[in-house]
Amino acid sequence: METVEPFDLILFGATGDLSMRKLLPALYRRHRSGQLGPDGRIIATARSQMSAEEFLSRAEASLVERLTPEEFTAEGWAGFVQRLVFISVDAEAPRGFQDLADCLADREDRVRVFYLAVAPGHFVAICEHLAAHQLVSARSRVVLEKPLGHDLASAQAISERIGAIFPEEAIYRIDHYLGKETVQNLMALRFGNMLFEPLWRRDWVRDVQISVAEQVGVDGRAGFYDRTGALRDMVQNHLLQLLCIIAMEPPTSLEAGAVRDEKLKVLRALTRLEGKDAMRNTVRGQYRAGAIAGQPVPGYLQEDGVAPDSRTETFVALRTELSNWRWAGVPFYLRTGKRLQDRAAEIIINFRDVPHSIFHVVYGAGQPNRLVIKLQPDEGVRMHMMAKSPGDRMELRPVSLNLDFAEAFQQHQADAYERLLMDVLRGRLTLFMRRDELYAAWNWIEPILQAWDEAADPPKPYVAGTWGPAASSALLGREDASWHEES
Ligand code: BG6
Repeated sequence: METVEPFDLILFGATGDLSMRKLLPALYRRHRSGQLGPDGRIIATARSQMSAEEFLSRAEASLVERLTPEEFTAEGWAGFVQRLVFISVDAEAPRGFQDLADCLADREDRVRVFYLAVAPGHFVAICEHLAAHQLVSARSRVVLEKPLGHDLASAQAISERIGAIFPEEAIYRIDHYLGKETVQNLMALRFGNMLFEPLWRRDWVRDVQISVAEQVGVDGRAGFYDRTGALRDMVQNHLLQLLCIIAMEPPTSLEAGAVRDEKLKVLRALTRLEGKDAMRNTVRGQYRAGAIAGQPVPGYLQEDGVAPDSRTETFVALRTELSNWRWAGVPFYLRTGKRLQDRAAEIIINFRDVPHSIFHVVYGAGQPNRLVIKLQPDEGVRMHMMAKSPGDRMELRPVSLNLDFAEAFQQHQADAYERLLMDVLRGRLTLFMRRDELYAAWNWIEPILQAWDEAADPPKPYVAGTWGPAASSALLGREDASWHEES
C-alpha cells in the first residue's frame, strides 16, 4: 500500500456542500485504509464562527449519512478526529489567517496543500492572504475547483494573479471527471489495446457522440447555476475533457506534460463555432415541468432562486469537428442536460457502414458497428455487431458483445475525489488541467456564448423527463444520424 509523505491539508470551505458531501468522506476512507500516514493533518477552515466541537459534530453527521456502517465506525472516527483541526478563517476579513499561520508554524518541510472548495470569487483573495502571511512554502500546492472564470478574460485574470503566488506546477485545477475510474479506463481501452487504434480515425469512424445526461435539476444551487448554465458548467470542462481523451494522439507516457500536451492539441484543433455557425450547430434548451421516474418536478423557471425570465440553458447539444489528419470531417456530437429521461454518461463511436451488403437483414436496416462506452451509472463497454440469426436462412440481426466492469472486477470503485486528493498529496499532475488547456477550452466556448447572447430567441423548452428539445434530434437528423438512447 502506498502512503503519502507527511502533510498539512488546509481545506477552505470545510462546511460547504462539496467538503461535506465529497472531500471529507474521501479523506476518511483513505484514512481508514491507512494511506494518510501517521503525520497528516487536515486543517478545516470556514467563514462561519463556530467551535471545533460544532464543526466536528457536523462533519460526523455528514459522514454517518454518506458512508456505510462498515465504513464509518466509532474507532475509525476517533482516529480521524486526531487529524482534524478547525479554524474560522474569512477571506474578506483576514483575522483567521494569523491563527492559520500559528497552526502551520515550524511545519515548512511538510507537503502543504491549500484546497479552495469555495466560490471562485474568493480564490484570489485567499491566495493573496496566504502570500501576505508567508504561508506559501516551497512545498505548497493549491487546488482550485471549477468553474475557473466565467469567460476567457476572467479565467486569465484569476490565473495570472494566482500564478504570481504559486508556480504552475503547484496549481491543481480539478475536473472531477478526470478522476473517475471509468474515464481512466478510456485511456486503458485506447492505449492498452491494439485492437482499436487502427480503426480510431476518420477512415473508419462515421461520428462520435459524447452524452452526459442527468436526471437531477439544480438541487439547491440555483443561484450559482442561473449565472452559469450548462455550457459553462459541463461542456467547458467535463465534456471537453472527455473529448480530449477520446480524440487525442497516444501520449509518449502517462507523465503530466505528455498527456496534457496531447489534450491541448485536441482543444486547439476544435473548429470554432461563431455567429451563424454557432447557431446552426448548437441547441440550447431549458426544462419545463414534467416528471422524473414517475414523480412530478417543477420547471426550471419555477425553481427557487431562478429569475422568472431566466434565459439560462439547462441543456446543450452541439456538433463540432476537429481540424487534424485523424479526425477531419468526422462529426463530434456533444450533449448534456439536467432533468433528462435517464442518468447516463456515454461515449459512442459509430463506425462506417460496410461498403456493400450481401446479406438480408431481419431487424431494421443493416446496422454499422457501434462501440458504446458507458461511464455511469454502470460502467462497461458494448460492441454492437451484426450476426447471423439462427435458422436456415442467411439473415442478420444486431447483437452486442458486453463487458461489464463491475462484474469483471467486483471491487469497490474509488470516488473521483478520493483519487484526485491522493494525487495532489503525491504531487501527480496528470489528471489536472494545465493553464493553457483552460484557456484553450474557454477560447472555444466563448464565441458560442457570444452568439447566444446576441440571439433573439430564448432556449428551447423541453419537458422534464424527456431527452431534451426536438431540435437536438434534428441536429443529428440532418446528417442521417441519431442519438444513442437505450432506455
Ligand atoms: C458538476 C456540475 O461539475 O458535475 C454539476 O457542477 C453536475 O451541475 C455534476 O451535476 C455532475 O457530476 P457527476 O459526477 O454526478 O456526473
